[in-house]
Amino acid sequence: MWLWPRLLLSRQADPGTLYDLRGDRAIEGAGDVPLVNMGYWPGIKSSDDGALQRACYALFDLVAQGANVNPRDAAVLDAGCGFGTNAVHVALRHGAQRVTGVNVSDVQLATARRRASEAGVSDRVDFLLASVTRLPLADGSVDVVLSVEAAFHFDTREAFFAEAFRVLRPGGRLSLVDLIVPPATSLWQRFGLRFVLRSQAVPEANVYGIGEFVRRVRAAGFEIVEEENIVDRVFAPFRRWILTQPPWVLIRYDFFYLLGSWPYLLYPFDYVRLVARKPD
Ligand SMILES: C[S@@+](CC[C@H](N)C(=O)[O-])C[C@H]1O[C@@H](n2cnc3c(N)ncnc32)[C@H](O)[C@@H]1O
Repeated sequence: MWLWPRLLLSRQADPGTLYDLRGDRAIEGAGDVPLVNMGYWPGIKSSDDGALQRACYALFDLVAQGANVNPRDAAVLDAGCGFGTNAVHVALRHGAQRVTGVNVSDVQLATARRRASEAGVSDRVDFLLASVTRLPLADGSVDVVLSVEAAFHFDTREAFFAEAFRVLRPGGRLSLVDLIVPPATSLWQRFGLRFVLRSQAVPEANVYGIGEFVRRVRAAGFEIVEEENIVDRVFAPFRRWILTQPPWVLIRYDFFYLLGSWPYLLYPFDYVRLVARKPD
């Protein structure tokens, strides 16, 4: 119980500890699959049955379709793979031959391996306990790098962009969505930002807007194919959904975590979708 306060008061963002502490708890699950992204909501209403679950899978599809993942892809990487839900989905639904999920949370990976085995894809989907800022993969060995709402945690995003560029083959694609934490512009935002950075495990080095995000992807060597701000299709409807949930749904989370997370619902985030390509 006291680990949460320690996390919130800590000097450094530590996503591995954050997700190990959360364990398999999630606000809503798809069957026994915990969900850990905010979802993509066009055509989905908060009041629909399984709304968050549908939105989460729509976000996975948006990212996979951005890179046009298909059965010719021999190696797909999911950077910051959570419970492996997307890795399994991309193998089954988009037909990638092999998908590797990378995560710093051992607890999440245990669930991910079990899920892949239950889905009958263990021979095509594997998981690595590693940081995507130091990938244990050979140069040019990957066709597609995907990342769903995870890069804001990476220490730093730029280190990840450099690693993604290194492991992709020439012509390989990077497709991602990510929460953008712009710098605070008022007193309350400066106060709220500290809670946001600690409770969501965001390194201070990742506090910048979408323009800077795109510039850093380009500086890593990528050609930008598409980029847009989709905050109105992700964060805004997710916030509406969460505010309409009965309290018993929310108290599955740790009390101290909720206490430290409230500025999360108020901070002026953006949310980027980006597709890039490693030049031939
Ligand atoms: C918000 S969750 C999203 C998970 C998943 N992509 C999804 O949408 O279901 C962020 C994930 O990134 C992982 N993560 C954070 N920092 C990481 C790093 N440096 N390397 C690999 N994974 C990391 C966390 O452990 C967590 O699983």
